[in-house]
Formats: sequence, structure tokens, C-alpha cells
Amino acid sequence: MAQPRRTFVRVKNLSKSYGAFQALKSISFSIDAGDGLALLGPSGCGKTTILRCIAGLETPDAGLIEIDGKVVFDSARGIDLPPEKRELGIVFQSYAIWPHMTVGENVGLPLKVRRVSKSEIEARVEEALTLVGLEGWQGRSAMALSGGQQQRVALARAIVHHPRLVLFDEPMSNLDTQLREDMRMDLRQLQERIGFTSVYVTHDHGEAFALARNVLVMNRGLVEMQGSPDAVYFKPHKPFVAKFFGYNILKGTMSSADEVEFAPGLRLRVILTDLAAGTPVHACIRKEDVLFCESDGLPCEILTHIFQGSHDEMLLRCGGVFDLRAHWEPRRYDSPSCQITIAPERCIVMPANL
Ligand SMILES: Nc1ncnc2c1ncn2[C@@H]1O[C@H](COP(=O)(O)OP(=O)(O)OP(=O)(O)O)[C@@H](O)[C@H]1O
Ligand SMILES: [Mg+2]
Repeated sequence: MAQPRRTFVRVKNLSKSYGAFQALKSISFSIDAGDGLALLGPSGCGKTTILRCIAGLETPDAGLIEIDGKVVFDSARGIDLPPEKRELGIVFQSYAIWPHMTVGENVGLPLKVRRVSKSEIEARVEEALTLVGLEGWQGRSAMALSGGQQQRVALARAIVHHPRLVLFDEPMSNLDTQLREDMRMDLRQLQERIGFTSVYVTHDHGEAFALARNVLVMNRGLVEMQGSPDAVYFKPHKPFVAKFFGYNILKGTMSSADEVEFAPGLRLRVILTDLAAGTPVHACIRKEDVLFCESDGLPCEILTHIFQGSHDEMLLRCGGVFDLRAHWEPRRYDSPSCQITIAPERCIVMPANL
């Protein structure tokens, strides 16, 4: 029988202002033990502020934070445990590696401040370095590390004291694309092997989906949508979420319960909605769901096509009315025009006032 899931982190009605600016507006979420939660959103939406509040590096104005059944912050009861009493590991965007220390001294730091014995520090450092693929690197100078190696050292330091919760703040933003993809895979395997609970801050949805079972899409201090990677990506509830994942957002009006009109005579079939004819809507369509066709499609003008290796990035003007972006198989375009189709079930319709 499946084990019942246990809530490990609970955040309730968390608010934080800087002067008159409200950075977090009553944020609530929970994370089950061993799970990852990703905080995803554009720059300035409040991701780092949430991490800092969980870590105890920032004092929220209101709300409650519970880690492993223990209240670490509660504005109502005046509880605010200092960071060192919250037993967590953090990987900052900047890595924060000390250049004058060796790799081993950097990684062992959280144990040293906890007054762990020298022999145990040595054993744990070795274990952590092995986990991140840097076995035997203890004696190297931290000054001579590449970005990717620094990232691994920061990761080893975050897990060396066996924290039950690890907070990641865009740990891969300084790495090149290939290294990011490798690290993403390594981190995922590490997470599966040692089973820590994590909060992962990023604005890269590929990274969020790889490392978290749940995703919070944030905007201006608010949660726009919360759900599995699959749900937030394929079933966005709001135009903001769809736009964040790169959907085309087209303004139109319902002409019937299963058809959207963009201009006189320019219509698209959608799956049956409960929206009345005349309702202004947004039609949200992924680039991959705008399909090239030979006949019976909507006529489009090809404005731009850019070869991207795995696909062509297309900018199309449809019926002379709206522009659409599409991802197509690389091919030759012998004509400046083409035709497209969009399957009704691939067009997500939302009332325009959401
Ligand atoms: N110490 C501070 N004083 C004043 N304003 C702050 C402070 N820290 C953060 N802010 C503001 O709060 C908002 C949220 O900041 P935060 O760092 O949480 O954003 P973020 O989502 O992590 O962004 P990024 O993706 O750029 O790292 C921003 O508008 C920021 O300017
Ligand atoms: Mg940030």
C-alpha cells in the first residue's frame, strides 16, 4: 500500500513589504516530504523573497512557516527562529564559494560551524564531494574552479550536513546551456538518491519541470497558478501563465459556444465552452500546435523564419489580421505564404477579463 504523504513545509498567508512596495501578497503552499517545489516567474515577482523568508534571512510582515512539523515563523505568536535553527541547506545564485579556502574547507564549513568533529567532517566532505562527482577534490584551491565546478562545490556544501530541506536560488544561471542540461540531470538523480525536500527558484521552466513535482507560477508577489508541471504547462488557467510558457495569445470574440472570431470571416473552431456568443476571449495556442498544412487551412504570410537547429522559429501573419509564432520542422519555404491548421482541442479559450 502507498505510504500516506507527509507535509514537510507549510507556508501560510506569507506577506512581505519593502516600504510601500508589497513584494509578497499572502502566499500559501505546502510541500510533501521528499518532493520538490519550483517557484517560477519573471524577474522581480518575489521568488528570492520567499526563499529568504523560509531560510530566516528575511522577516515576513505576516504569515506562518512550518518546517517538518515545527513552526519556524508565526507573526501571530511572535515566533521567528534564526537561520541556524532551521536546519536547511541553501545554494545561492552567486554560489558564495570562499576563494581563499580549499574545496574541502568550503564544503565542510556548515559542519565546522556546528562543531562537528574533524574526522566526521572529513568523512562527510568526502561523501558530499562524491555525490556531486568531485571525489578527491578536497585539497584543491577554490580559486581555480570553473563555474560548473563552483556550482558543484556549492551543492556539496548545501547537502553536507544532511539537511532535510534544500533551497536553490537559480543555481545554474551562470552556466552555459550544455552544462545546465547536464547539471539538471545530475541534480535530479541526486534528489532521487538522497531524497531531500527542496524549493527551487528559477525562471527557466525546463529546469523547474525537471526538478519539481509541483510548480508555483508567480507574478508580482502573487501565485497565478499552482500545479504539476504537466498541468501548468498544458492547462494554464490564465493568460499570464500561458504567456509565460510561450503560448500565442490572440484576442477574439466567441461567435458561438465552440468558435472564436478574430475578424469578420476569420474564425477558429475550439472545443465546446460554456461562454455565450459575443464574449471577448483570449485564445492561447502553443507554438508547436500551429501546424503547417498543404490545403484547406488558414492562409498566412511568412514574415520571418529563423533556423534554430531542432526547429524553425516562424513568425506568421494570419489572414492579414494577427501574428502567430510557430515551431516547425526545418524545411524549405519556396513561397512567402502558407496555410496552417490548429486542432480545436489545442486552443485554450479564456474570458478576456481573467
Ligand atoms: N531589500 C529590499 N528592499 C527593497 N525592495 C526589495 C528588496 N528585496 C527585494 N525587493 C523587491 O521585491 C521584489 C521581489 O524581489 P525578489 O528578489 O524576490 O524577486 P525575484 O523573483 O527573485 O527576481 P529575480 O528573478 O530577478 O531574481 C522586487 O521588486 C525587488 O525589487
Ligand atoms: Mg531572485
